[in-house]
Amino acid sequence: MTAARECSREPSKFGSTRSPQRRLNSRAPVTTLMSRCGSEAVGEEADPTSGVSPVWKELGFKDMPKYTHKTDKFILYQAAVQSPDCEAEFVDRVYWNEYGTRAALFREDFCGTQLISCEWVKLRPKNVAYGVDLHKPTLAWGLKHNISRLPPRQAARVHQVRQDVRHVITPKVHLVGAFNFSYFIFKRRRDLLAYFTAVRKSLLPRGLFVCDAYGGWESQQVIKEKTRLKGFTYVWEQSAYNPINDHTMCHITFKFPNGKSIKRAFTYDWRLWTLGEIQDALIDAGFARTEVYWEDEDKNGDGNGVYRVRKKADNSPGWNAYIVAVP
Ligand SMILES: C[S@@+](CC[C@H](N)C(=O)[O-])C[C@H]1O[C@@H](n2cnc3c(N)ncnc32)[C@H](O)[C@@H]1O
Repeated sequence: MTAARECSREPSKFGSTRSPQRRLNSRAPVTTLMSRCGSEAVGEEADPTSGVSPVWKELGFKDMPKYTHKTDKFILYQAAVQSPDCEAEFVDRVYWNEYGTRAALFREDFCGTQLISCEWVKLRPKNVAYGVDLHKPTLAWGLKHNISRLPPRQAARVHQVRQDVRHVITPKVHLVGAFNFSYFIFKRRRDLLAYFTAVRKSLLPRGLFVCDAYGGWESQQVIKEKTRLKGFTYVWEQSAYNPINDHTMCHITFKFPNGKSIKRAFTYDWRLWTLGEIQDALIDAGFARTEVYWEDEDKNGDGNGVYRVRKKADNSPGWNAYIVAVP
């Protein structure tokens, strides 16, 4: 597989020329649960009041909301962590690169509030999305705040499935996506394998599975990393890492200008799987081939939002990557 495949993801829509995640990679300490292309996050050197936020606009706010400790934590999560339009465009392009045709049926595993599904159905009128998540209140939140804000014709093409991703039955799809490292919740290989096997079975013959991963030695450190966003500060905390079994505990805290905070609004009890382990498990689950999309660097050594297939990469303190599995 050549390195010429490129999935360019617009990195500078909101003022920061680098994704916040990659901003942390080369110099700063930690790889965080963050969006992969321009978001409303701003780098330390950028003006935090510049740019616009489609996230809050799409949530129905006319002007930027005043974030406080009473703000809904999903609003803060979506504003801080996700770039659903980039994610949808990325999987769309990867599929096109692989097969030269367009995917229509997309399943968003661990979908949470189903933001990526909502972006998927916006791409083309034939696109259909299935979101799978176990957590009823989170799905309900997504229905109320994300799906129901779509035009009715788009909303009708977004489906919710409340099931375990390892046992879910949906119509076969062209694409399954699992983002923000959600499958790290499976700590035993047998559970990871069960999940990947279920994904493999749910794909059409010309199907693809796309997931993300993060790593690098800073991801094993106990550390807190603050990112100033418009109206609040996002704190990624790695509170524990056990080198015996690679289990890690991470949290998201939101802090506000009035000094208040929502402490550990989200907690992640994960295993930090390596790219080698993930790819081996995908092959054992029946996939024919895997590719790793690694992010290019700009002249300062920071990620530039362009991901290409790589067979080899320089080791770095913190990175994130995409894994694409082909049946
Ligand atoms: C980190 S959130 C990810 C949200 C979203 N995908 C994103 O990119 O930000 C993980 C989600 O996975 C769900 N989840 C955890 N285990 C699951 C399982 N076995 N099957 C389905 N959903 C699961 C949780 O309810 C939660 O909403």
